[in-house]
Amino acid sequence: MTTSPNENPYLLLTPGPLSTSATVKAVMRRDWCTWDDDYNQGVVQVIRRRLVELATRAEGYTSVLMQGSGTFVVEALIGTAVPRDGKLLVLANGAYGRRIARIADLLDIDHTVIESDERESPDPGDVDAALASDPAITHVAMVHGDTSTGILNPVMAVGEVVRRRRRLFMVDAMSTFGGMPLDLDECGIDFLVSSANKCIQGVPGFGFVLARAAALADCDDRPRSLSLDLYDQWRVMEEGEGKWRFTSPTHTVRAFAQALVELDEEGGIERRAARYRENHRVLVEGMERLGFQCYLPEACRSPIITTFHDPESNAYEFTRFYADLKRQGFVIYPGKATRADTFRIGTIGHVFPDDIRSLLVAVEQSITW
Ligand SMILES: Cc1ncc(COP(=O)(O)O)c(C=O)c1O
Repeated sequence: MTTSPNENPYLLLTPGPLSTSATVKAVMRRDWCTWDDDYNQGVVQVIRRRLVELATRAEGYTSVLMQGSGTFVVEALIGTAVPRDGKLLVLANGAYGRRIARIADLLDIDHTVIESDERESPDPGDVDAALASDPAITHVAMVHGDTSTGILNPVMAVGEVVRRRRRLFMVDAMSTFGGMPLDLDECGIDFLVSSANKCIQGVPGFGFVLARAAALADCDDRPRSLSLDLYDQWRVMEEGEGKWRFTSPTHTVRAFAQALVELDEEGGIERRAARYRENHRVLVEGMERLGFQCYLPEACRSPIITTFHDPESNAYEFTRFYADLKRQGFVIYPGKATRADTFRIGTIGHVFPDDIRSLLVAVEQSITW
């Protein structure tokens, strides 16, 4: 099954917005009333329940949807969950970890950062030492897969430390949730953020937080923002049984409900993860055969997005390479690594191993150096 060129002139091999199925796009043709049960009960509450089922087998978890792109929801979570007398420890080994620290900075939240090399996973031992030496730290935040390079971070090992040290654990799993198995309870995660247009394969417009309900219920301090008050958003969604406080992105939400059905039809997260791993395997094997080199060591690469070094030839130019591939039906991504010239290719979305094989043919035809 591949995306027909009639639907889209090119396939998005990007980390989201990504290529979606024709059926996900098709359900957006209908309009919805946000005061009606058809929408609140029939769409929003179904999504909220299904997200919790996907997140953990344990009891006591809840979900809340929030308008905006992924960053809005990360900001809503940090601003809502860390109390005024709290302190945040941020683990950063990429652009999205650093973005969490920037949010804390702008919100005047006391914080400290453990920054590590973007090609290395953070060390849970460093987290243990930081929590042991600084009793003021109340919360720890990290990114599961930092999409700026594609690195996969050890959420379970860090979660074990955070739980043992009795702090709260927040994970940005924006580009991994739904595409890699992960149980919130097993990983000791109190709050997890992701968005509609990543591995669930919906379209952009909102994100969501999966939370231990007791931890979210504790966040009823004076909010730092009106629109990004995650606690109040959750309270209204609970009391109003699927009601959003402010205008809901109805078409996007309906598309997400369809995307969740299609995740089940594919066989759930394990099967989707297997497809993404196969996409990634075919990509790396084919690109290495064509002479490209991966930026990250194999042990910490995720199947979500892969960073490649630019070829060492003066004749190579990303914009021309990009345009050549686009003409042949594939859109790739510029690099975001800080220590080398790179580009990235995403392997998530409505994208299949045969699409990656076709991409490799296009890459071969675009090599002019
Ligand atoms: C891990 C991670 N966190 C945060 C974000 C920010 O999301 P957005 O660009 O939707 O604001 C992204 C975006 O790709 C991401 O991959």
